[in-house]
Amino acid sequence: MVCLQLTRELTGSVLDIGGGGEGIIGRLYGKNVTAIDIRQEELDEAPEGPTKLCMDACHLEFPEESFDNATAFFSLMYFSKEDQKRAIFEAARVLRPGGTLQIWDAKIEVANPFLIDLQIDLCNEHFCTSYGFYNENSKQNANDIAECCQQAGFRLVRKEEREEWFFLHCTKG
Ligand SMILES: C[S@@+](CC[C@H](N)C(=O)[O-])C[C@H]1O[C@@H](n2cnc3c(N)ncnc32)[C@H](O)[C@@H]1O
Repeated sequence: MVCLQLTRELTGSVLDIGGGGEGIIGRLYGKNVTAIDIRQEELDEAPEGPTKLCMDACHLEFPEESFDNATAFFSLMYFSKEDQKRAIFEAARVLRPGGTLQIWDAKIEVANPFLIDLQIDLCNEHFCTSYGFYNENSKQNANDIAECCQQAGFRLVRKEEREEWFFLHCTKG
């Protein structure tokens, strides 16, 4: 079981990419969050509070510079490599200059199947959840995602790595 502690670090609006399911970022920042997810049923599962929109992260239906921050909490692992790149470039497009992108995700060597069990501490609340999938060709690490963020115009400000997961904090421009 991986233990993750999240605190409120961001101010202003937050676009949460793949924000359905447990809706962890929505729980943390409430009404400031616009949670987008490609599956309506995942959004229906997530708690009320954020604005929820069924949308593909690779084709965001927002104008340039719409958000102060963007987050992806264990969602990019469900994207193909090409779609990860598209989603990160789209995040860069819709963030205002100086905006923040935060990514939490799993280190994956093989995914046949892959499963990560998390205990998430959100201020005074605790959640246990598991994220998993099956994809024989899936592999990802912090450096690949960080490289993609840099190609999209982000500056890497902080990188944390543990045995099973990583966290990236980037700013636009
Ligand atoms: C592990 S789940 C949800 C994690 C979520 N952030 C949470 O707090 O529990 C990953 C989500 O990414 C969504 N997703 C996958 N591909 C997507 C895409 N292209 N655009 C938007 N959402 C996508 C899935 O539908 C799924 O709900």
